[in-house]
Amino acid sequence: MPVSLLERVALVTGAGRGVGRSIALDLASHGAKVIVNDLGGTLDGEGNDISVAETVVREIEDAGGAAAANTGDVTSSEDAYTMVKQAIDTWGRLDIVVSNAGILRDRALHNLPEDDWAKVLAVHLTGGYNLLHHAWPAFRQQHYGRVVLTTSNSGFLGNFGQSNYGAAKAGLIGLMNVAKLEGEKYNVMVNCLNPGAATRMTTSVREMAPEQQAAMSPDLVAPAVTYLCSDSCTTSGMVINSGGGSFGRAAIVQNERVAIADATADDVETHWNEITSLENAEVWWSVRETRAAHEAATEE
Ligand SMILES: NC(=O)c1ccc[n+]([C@@H]2O[C@H](COP(=O)([O-])OP(=O)(O)OC[C@H]3O[C@@H](n4cnc5c(N)ncnc54)[C@H](O)[C@@H]3O)[C@@H](O)[C@H]2O)c1
Repeated sequence: MPVSLLERVALVTGAGRGVGRSIALDLASHGAKVIVNDLGGTLDGEGNDISVAETVVREIEDAGGAAAANTGDVTSSEDAYTMVKQAIDTWGRLDIVVSNAGILRDRALHNLPEDDWAKVLAVHLTGGYNLLHHAWPAFRQQHYGRVVLTTSNSGFLGNFGQSNYGAAKAGLIGLMNVAKLEGEKYNVMVNCLNPGAATRMTTSVREMAPEQQAAMSPDLVAPAVTYLCSDSCTTSGMVINSGGGSFGRAAIVQNERVAIADATADDVETHWNEITSLENAEVWWSVRETRAAHEAATEE
């Protein structure tokens, strides 16, 4: 069945530029009505510009879709509440939340001021919490919700000079892992997007020729998000890599533990290769599941 978002209402943050803009346009082209949120600030999160969100709303409307602009700040709980309320007041419901707004304040750890740590965590991580916290009552009530949190390889793998950004992005994976459990019985699917695209964010870090930029258009990221936001998607708790025309999955795995009775540090050294081998590693659904497996293994 073709993916359709007819009758669905979406809220996309940071949707005025880059990846968020492409997501908003793609959701709308599949029938969703979209709250286009964007503060319109600089890459490091200063200032604001209302025309940024309004321009994307016009693009959606010109293509025959429905959208409304919101220029709130995702770091503010009150603004996040207003975004959710705007969706419900305008179209009667909210089905989809894409937490995508982002900034960068890169510095090596020893040079990173507290303010740059706090601001980056506030936009990415607290922004994600603010949206879920306020959208959750609607999801529970209607027994339906689709959430995409935008993470990054910076958090998943590490990127020099991005301790604030990497920590915030990895934090969103933790948020997903818990939200997927809390949403389970309400048909709320929570997944992460790990995008790769030429935007002002990436071109500020790495120069790209025009043909490279075209090959990494943010439009190529969006189809994965549209699928994750649809009724067709019944998986939760996944990190989906999307960019440059290819798609994949990243996952956190744990191996089977090595039982060593009365272990000393010397025993750990002796078994180090076995302890750290990922040969039998698995993706686990929750803490409860690993605890049960661990108890079963130690009872044997
Ligand atoms: N481009 C990539 O390759 C890449 C890779 C990994 C992760 N990401 C993530 O994807 C998301 C989108 O990034 P992008 O590359 O499109 O960057 P971008 O700078 O083009 O877009 C980010 C948008 O978020 C908005 N924004 C920032 N702070 C906000 C706030 N407090 N409230 C509301 N809006 C705010 C900005 O105004 C901007 O329009 C970010 O979360 C980023 O960390 C991007």
